[in-house]
Amino acid sequence: MAFMDRGSKPAVLVTGGAGYIGAHTAKALHEGGYFPVVYDDLSSGFREAVRWGEFVHGDIRDGRAIAETIEAHAIKAVIHFAGLIEVGRSVVRPDLFWDVNVAGTLSLLSALRDRGVDRLVFSSSAAVYGQGGRGPLETIPETAPKAPASPYGDTKLACEWMIGAECRAYGLSAVALRYFNAAGADPSGLIGEAHEPETHLIPLAIAAALGRGKPLTVFGQDLDTPDGTCLRDYIHVSDLAAAHVAALKVQLPAGGFEAANVGTGEGRSVLEVVDAVGRAVGGPVPHGVGARRAGDPPSLVADPAYAQSLLGWRARRSGLDQIVADALRWESNPAYSTGARAAANKSAQAQ
Ligand code: UFG
Repeated sequence: MAFMDRGSKPAVLVTGGAGYIGAHTAKALHEGGYFPVVYDDLSSGFREAVRWGEFVHGDIRDGRAIAETIEAHAIKAVIHFAGLIEVGRSVVRPDLFWDVNVAGTLSLLSALRDRGVDRLVFSSSAAVYGQGGRGPLETIPETAPKAPASPYGDTKLACEWMIGAECRAYGLSAVALRYFNAAGADPSGLIGEAHEPETHLIPLAIAAALGRGKPLTVFGQDLDTPDGTCLRDYIHVSDLAAAHVAALKVQLPAGGFEAANVGTGEGRSVLEVVDAVGRAVGGPVPHGVGARRAGDPPSLVADPAYAQSLLGWRARRSGLDQIVADALRWESNPAYSTGARAAANKSAQAQ
């Protein structure tokens, strides 16, 4: 049952708050003394993941509906997640990504300007760095070249530019958080990662280990990394959620815009993840080695120093075994199997 008692808490609009990171952030806002108002079209999020605050069904490109929501709920600040995220799909449907991600952000900015909301946190991505052009053991600072390798990354970078210009021109203050690999699930097991179709490593490895899915294919073992498989910086979704709440509180001047990498600074290989899932499940993860996935950078590891100083934040739950244990708890909850989530979502959309 959703928590509805707003009291005197400041209301924060969470666009895309029925999605994976958005739902965890709504919970963190609730626990931090804010009142989340989730605005989501449920195209990929789940109604049942909205358990804290209010839910408003709407499209991010509908500026009028956003302005009405801001008015109706006396919104003080916005955390903007709504957007398309599948890198592969962005290559075949770039038009959709520019429409939803870029035109959607444009309509949001105009609604904020109209209604005098001057605080924004934007969900950006390590995808703005593309391949990075760096060695496998080097971490990526915010100053690294921006060279997205997909239309998805292009749209995230374009949004950052648009938001930065909006700040300078109209006095909005904003923080863009560039996430590395969001992973894990809320320790309660009530919310977690749910993509359809699922393409992410940890859920696929768990499904393979539990015999629910196909054996995992490791995408390449011939890369320039210590064990030949890709290195990624896995950051627990609860740590990511905490970073958003911290970003709302950063003292920024009017017109200030900051972008920060949210990661741990530690790279983990695909085989290390496979081993961690095997340990958590207590059995082998059926897997084989396949070809590299097109566009996969060998290594993407954050330098999180700037985020730590800007936000006064650091990752606390992002050890790989903790991430996998929390993901497994969520995946093992039969009430939240993908089928149940999809059915609940469809019935919510039909209402
Ligand atoms: N991997 C496999 N087999 C699989 C799935 C993934 O070996 O079946 C590997 C990938 O090659 C990669 C690692 O596991 O090295 C992690 O892959 P994910 O698909 O879980 O995540 P990505 O690093 O590809 O994607 C993440 C975010 C995206 C974001 C992208 C930016 O999830 O939203 O980083 O580069 F766009």
